[in-house]
Amino acid sequence: MRAMHLPSDHPLLLRIVDDLATCGWSQQNFFLPGPLTLALAAECRKRAAEGELAPAAVGRGPSQEVREGIRGDHIQWLEPGQAESCDQYLNLMDSLREALNRGLFLGLEDFECHFALYPPGAFYRKHLDRFRDDDRRMVSAVIYLNPEWLPEDGGQLRMTLKGDVEHDVQPIGGCLVVFLSGDIPHEVLPAQRERLSLTGWFRRRGNEPF
Ligand code: OGA
Ligand code: MN
Repeated sequence: MRAMHLPSDHPLLLRIVDDLATCGWSQQNFFLPGPLTLALAAECRKRAAEGELAPAAVGRGPSQEVREGIRGDHIQWLEPGQAESCDQYLNLMDSLREALNRGLFLGLEDFECHFALYPPGAFYRKHLDRFRDDDRRMVSAVIYLNPEWLPEDGGQLRMTLKGDVEHDVQPIGGCLVVFLSGDIPHEVLPAQRERLSLTGWFRRRGNEPF
């Protein structure tokens, strides 16, 4: 696989920027190339098999705790330099970060992301991706890694849009969903089979105390 970078004026990135500006969210069903989707799925499964994924916690700081009645996924945060497929993905997300900064002047400085594996029966109750005491997360980006998925497999991402309209996304491999972290409540419906994804957040600089 070659280095995966897109110019920040690539039509695919411009479409996402435009969708975010007009609606606050964007869905691109064919964002990730097939081979990269497969490589990332394999990497996620490998890490799961090696016991590197841990039950995800809810909240931040000292009040953080694992609560399976709220979210039942297992996660591992990504670092650069761990695997070629992960670095390709991080490069793509950096291209998207540049495009968002150019088009929307968001001042996004970094990107944090994790693999997520929902075992059968797991879900994530309705929430916003912004913490009460930390508003650095501006834009959420979820990429799905499941080679095939049927509606009866569950696990849809359900977003609550303007006017309380609900929009469901099937977690099908290669699909990218991007939305404004503070604006769009969303949930993951119970998955009937193992569901893999990469979830990340573009962040602006925080108001650090001096
Ligand atoms: C999250 C989340 C959505 C998804 O991890 O905060 O909402 O579809 N994930 O995996
Ligand atoms: Mn979320």
